[in-house]
Amino acid sequence: MWVLDPFLGTGSTLLAAKASGRNAVGVEINQRYVRIAKQRLSETPRNHATKQLALKGDSSRLADLFRERELPKMDYCITSPPYWNQLKRASMRQTLGTLMITRSS
Ligand SMILES: C[S@@+](CC[C@H](N)C(=O)[O-])C[C@H]1O[C@@H](n2cnc3c(N)ncnc32)[C@H](O)[C@@H]1O
Repeated sequence: MWVLDPFLGTGSTLLAAKASGRNAVGVEINQRYVRIAKQRLSETPRNHATKQLALKGDSSRLADLFRERELPKMDYCITSPPYWNQLKRASMRQTLGTLMITRSS
């Protein structure tokens, strides 16, 4: 199964995909966030059975990006996963600041 997050941010969708044994592509326009997503992925246990790709790109040109990268058809698209259960897990948490913002909103 392949999962797409066209607005990846700092990569939580890719981490969840990796943890649940799914292939995933995340597209993010901000290079800084792409770097953070890759860093977060690298801090999780290796999983050679699936792939998680954090790509720098503009999702308004998603079809071009998929063609250029020869990416497969996606089975599922998610742009805002429900955070709360993930934030309870240390491996999915980014910073205390993020948690505090989520709690107060
Ligand atoms: C709410 S955040 C992402 C949250 C993320 N989906 C998650 O669940 O953790 C939205 C992200 O979309 C990115 N973004 C905005 N316009 C974009 C575009 N045209 N293509 C790709 N990424 C974009 C922003 O830089 C921002 O990091």
